Formats: sequence, structure tokens, C-alpha cells
Amino acid sequence: MKKDLLTLRDITRDELETIFDLAAKLKRERGKVDFRPLADKSIGLIFAKSSTRTRVSFEVGVGELGGRALYLDQSRMQVGRGETVADTAKVLSRYLHGIVIRTFAHADVCELAKEATIPVINALTDEFHPCQLLADMLTIREYSGRVDNTIRLAFYGDGRSNMANSLILAARLTGMELVISAPEEERPDADLIGGAANILWEPDPVKAARGVDYFYTDVWVSMGFEEERARRMEIFRPYQVTAKLFDEAKPGAKFLHCLPAHRGEEVAPEVMDDPKRSIVFDEAENRLHVQKAVMSLLMGPRN
Ligand code: CP
Ligand code: NVA
Repeated sequence: MKKDLLTLRDITRDELETIFDLAAKLKRERGKVDFRPLADKSIGLIFAKSSTRTRVSFEVGVGELGGRALYLDQSRMQVGRGETVADTAKVLSRYLHGIVIRTFAHADVCELAKEATIPVINALTDEFHPCQLLADMLTIREYSGRVDNTIRLAFYGDGRSNMANSLILAARLTGMELVISAPEEERPDADLIGGAANILWEPDPVKAARGVDYFYTDVWVSMGFEEERARRMEIFRPYQVTAKLFDEAKPGAKFLHCLPAHRGEEVAPEVMDDPKRSIVFDEAENRLHVQKAVMSLLMGPRN
């Protein structure tokens, strides 16, 4: 049966380790060993939103795995003119061997996956960004040697964003200690946390920083939320990740960001550009390796 990656709920702890191990191997062997599980396969990349990292890492990744990537601008597809998601899924399943999709409503990605007979990977919706979290966890594993309850991570800013939601699922999957520092208006979704004792909401940004190994933040205005810009600038202002917050953290604490970053908004320039603290470009690179691993496992020869 085909398997999709729509959120981290689709992955077990064992499967996560399999993805990490393969991603680490593909990273080590990049350009040295020929590994072409997508040979003769075509993967469609549907994008309804802007992208730098996701588009390029998927296109390059499909090519390195021996496949062909088709970039499909959703605004130029018939689905943008009223064709149903279900019909689109059925038609694309006759041509392609996998779909990667970035769009607005998470329900559309679920519908696409339900109706398609080929694997679907969520490349970001308003609610979830699982590929980013896989890269983030791989990065934490590289720096700390593990992703488990010995790791404490504080996320600052929009507690209801696709990144905060995905971090919650990552913490539920791994047992990592997650503190979300967000204002009351955008506090994290209690249903998603599901009473997990390792996930806390802490509106005080200084308290949230205590003892953390990693700081994480994301833009204050996610794609699709531009009309709320003024309100968001106001309510998230106290949640900028500053160098001062590192005084509260564990020595050697690192800074993560899914990118793109807005210096002076969610992160102070001295944090973003501090090579001792910021590991955001290692994190961005890991998108490529981890997505290659996921595509090999979901869309490779055995599928
Ligand atoms: N982090 C991330 O998904 O970046 P892009 O929006 O550039 O793809
Ligand atoms: N929360 C951001 C993430 C970008 C990678 C957005 O959805 O725009």
C-alpha cells in the first residue's frame, strides 16, 4: 500500500530513525556513490505558494535520485480554475510516481492523498511543514547526537503556525522537551498537544529560555496571513530571539530557523549571524538529504 507524508503523525519512531540513518548516509556519500531509486520515475512538485529551499531541494533531490522533477505552478493548473482536487489526484496518478505539494488548506493535501494512488508528500500547508521538521531533527541529531527527552527546545513567536504545530508533533514523536513562548492570542493548540507533559506553553520569553539547548523561531507573518501583518508585528514583538536570551540557556545553545528570516523581527541580527550560535544553513542543507531519504523510502523501487 502506498504511504504518504502529510504530517509527522504518519511516521513512527522506528521509521524516523530509518529516515535519519538513510539521510546521514546520503549526505556522506553525495556525489561519490550512485544511488538512483527514482530512475525512470517522474515526481510532480505542485506549488501554490512561494519557495526557495523546498522547491530547489526537492528538484535537486529528485534529480540526484535519478528521477525527473516537474515543477507545477498551481495557479497555472486547472485546479486553480475549478477542477476538483479529487479529479486532479486521479489524473496525476496516471502520469506520475509521486506528488510533492505546497498549498494553503491542509484539507486539500489530505484530499489529494486520499484520491491519489501514488505517494503524496506535504511540502507545507497553513497547518503543517513535516519536511522542515525532519531536517530540523536531523540537524539536532548531528549537533547533540540524539533527539529525545534530553533535548530542550524553545520556540518563539506564532504558537499556532505550521512550524509550531509541526514542532508539537515532533515533540510528541520523540519525547523532546518543547517550550512554546507565544502570546495568549496565538497560544499553541491544546488539542494538538493532547496533554503531552513534555510540551509547555510559556508566555514569558525569559522563563521559556531557561536551560534550553536550542532556540527556534519562524516569521511572524506566514504566507497567506499578510492581511494580519500590523496585528502580528504588535503581539509578537516581545518574542524576538535576542542574544540576551542566551544568558538563560545552556552553554553552547544553538539557534535554528526554518528560513526565510527577517532580521530585526523574529530574530536579532547578532543571533542570526553569529556563527557560534546560528546553525540555520546546516539546517537548510539538511532539507535536501532528509527529503532524498523520504522520497527513496516512499517513492523508490518497492513502491
Ligand atoms: N523553510 C522553507 O520551507 O523555505 P522555503 O519557503 O524557501 O521553501
Ligand atoms: N511559517 C512560514 C514557514 C515558511 C517556511 C510560512 O508558512 O510562511
